[in-house]
Amino acid sequence: MAPSITADSLLQLAQKPPQDARERFALYEAARRLMLSVEDPMSVGSRVTAAGVSQVAIDLKIFELLANEPSKHWSVGELEKHTGAQASLLDRLMRNLAVNNLVLEVAHATYSASHLTARCASKAFSAGLAHSKNVIWPGLQVLPTFLAENGYRNPNDHVKSACMRGVGFDGDVMAYLRENPEKAAASYAFMAENKKEAPKWVDGKVPTTDLVLSKEEVADGRVMAVDVGGGSGHQCEAIRKAFPHLKGRVLVEDLPFMVNRIDKEHARAIDFEVVAHDFFKPQPVISAKVYYMRNVIHDWDDERASAILKHTREAMAKDSVLFIDEIILPEFGASTRQVHMDLAVMVFAGAMERTNGQWKNLLGSNGFQIRDVWVYDEQLGAAVIAAVPTSE
Ligand SMILES: C[S@@+](CC[C@H](N)C(=O)[O-])C[C@H]1O[C@@H](n2cnc3c(N)ncnc32)[C@H](O)[C@@H]1O
Repeated sequence: MAPSITADSLLQLAQKPPQDARERFALYEAARRLMLSVEDPMSVGSRVTAAGVSQVAIDLKIFELLANEPSKHWSVGELEKHTGAQASLLDRLMRNLAVNNLVLEVAHATYSASHLTARCASKAFSAGLAHSKNVIWPGLQVLPTFLAENGYRNPNDHVKSACMRGVGFDGDVMAYLRENPEKAAASYAFMAENKKEAPKWVDGKVPTTDLVLSKEEVADGRVMAVDVGGGSGHQCEAIRKAFPHLKGRVLVEDLPFMVNRIDKEHARAIDFEVVAHDFFKPQPVISAKVYYMRNVIHDWDDERASAILKHTREAMAKDSVLFIDEIILPEFGASTRQVHMDLAVMVFAGAMERTNGQWKNLLGSNGFQIRDVWVYDEQLGAAVIAAVPTSE
């Protein structure tokens, strides 16, 4: 240990961490590595229990309770009155949440909110947990057998993914969600809520030049942007809200069972159109200025991703641009969230997050060249890759 760093100085830092996001992330990664390097090997297993207990805390509305009165100290007796759960059980659950810093243990059988409790009480957190519980955990549970049986090859089958095996469904993930509307609703909420609090591509880091249409193009009804596989259309809404001056039509496309869920009145009020479309079929919207895809390609192996890209390329005009909004994994030293996302898409859909080199190869082999890359969330490595058709 460097002589100036002691356990006391680290604890002091923990009580008053810096506010700057970049500095916090650097510290988080450094502290995580420190923790892993000094962790007692017998403690490794205990780290994974937090998620199940968090779901119980969500069900009992414990995070909400604590987050609403952040300075209050709650005895387990008081928590019992509010939740109806037995105090002695609550104490065991709360101390589990406390070792993971999701709440603070302030005295014997007494707890208060930590800096993470409000986040745990958010819709984004519970939607993410519900999505994980419904599909990701069953996939992780069977992953060892699944990989052993496929000879330890990179999974690349959307239909026979570890998750589908885990939930015991004979079909692909989309069919599973279609047949299980309450699980689809959780996944849907997760996608919409997930990045609400995170940096967004429309927040100024990505120039709007590609989205600007001439008066003639607007009069012609040219499409300014089409959000391919756009789920509920939240990115169409983001475009309209962030750039109210931009003219032209904005459309969201997704499978019928997904777009049927969209509130059409709301879409009209925000001014985006809703189109049912399967992106493995020819793209019906020809010559849009921008084809935007967020977290779409990462759900597919290279072969199927190529099919989606091919249909998009065929629809593009000379001045169309493809915006791919995805994680770009670093070639070395990926962060916790990045490896988590990569594993999640592996078990979910036999798919993958990609490095810069992998994006370049995938796009290059489908007739695109990368024109620009704008990283808008450095911690996640989330970026908009602007790609244009390679000139013949
Ligand atoms: C990971 S989600 C991303 C959704 C949205 N772009 C976002 O960033 O929140 C993938 C989306 O692809 C859609 N999708 C899957 N298969 C599709 C297909 N064959 N045609 C069109 N959309 C599809 C799903 O319904 C889902 O909305």
